[in-house]
Amino acid sequence: MERTFRYDIMPEIKERWSPRAFSEERIPREEILALIEAASFAPSCFNEQPWRFIIADSEEKLAKMRDTLTVQNQVWANKAPVLILIAAKKNFSLNNWENFWHMFDAGTSWGFLSLEAVRRGLVTHAMGGFDTEKAREAFAISDKYEIITIVAVGKYGRPEELPDDLQKRERPDVRKDVESLILD
Ligand SMILES: Cc1cc2nc3c(=O)[nH]c(=O)nc-3n(C[C@H](O)[C@H](O)[C@H](O)COP(=O)(O)O)c2cc1C
Repeated sequence: MERTFRYDIMPEIKERWSPRAFSEERIPREEILALIEAASFAPSCFNEQPWRFIIADSEEKLAKMRDTLTVQNQVWANKAPVLILIAAKKNFSLNNWENFWHMFDAGTSWGFLSLEAVRRGLVTHAMGGFDTEKAREAFAISDKYEIITIVAVGKYGRPEELPDDLQKRERPDVRKDVESLILD
C-alpha cells in the first residue's frame, strides 16, 4: 500500500522512512555532527537536554556496536557506515530528581535527527533490537543513562542486495488515519 497524505506537511516528514538497504559509502564526521546538532535543538523539560549519543563510525566501534544487534538486524544494519546509540540521562542535573520526561525528550531529539538526515540526502533506521546490557558494558555506559536505541545512518543502497524476505518489506510503512489517533 502507498503512503498518502491528506495535508500539506513538511517534505522531510513525507520523505522519511526506515529502509534496510544501506550503501557502505563513508559519511564524513561533520555530516554526522550536523545531525547531532539538529537533535540538540529539540525541546526538553527544563532544557535538561537528556539525550546522549555514541557515534560508531570507525571499524573498531562499528564492530563493537554491530555485535550488540540482534541477528535479524545485523543482516541489513551491518552495511550501514554509521551506527548511533541513543541514551537518555534519567535524573535532572540541577537537583538529581527523577526526570520523568527523559525518554520523551530523547525521542524528540531522534525525530529531529532523522528529519535533518532526510534534508541532507541520508537515511536512518532506528532499532530496538539489540542487547542493552551488552551495549552498556561494551561502551562503559553508566547506569545514570537509559540506553534506548541504536540508529543506522547512511546513504540509500541497493535493495536488490537484501535477502528476499527483506526486499519484500523494503518500502515505507503506511499510517493510521488521523481521526483514529484522536481520543475523545
Ligand atoms: C524505537 C524504534 C525501534 C525500532 N526497532 C526496529 C528493529 O529492531 N528492527 C527494524 O528492522 N526496525 C525497527 N524499527 C523501525 C520501525 O519498524 C519503523 O519505524 C516503522 O515500521 C515505521 O516505518 P517507517 O519508519 O518506515 O515510517 C524501530 C523503530 C523505532 C522508532
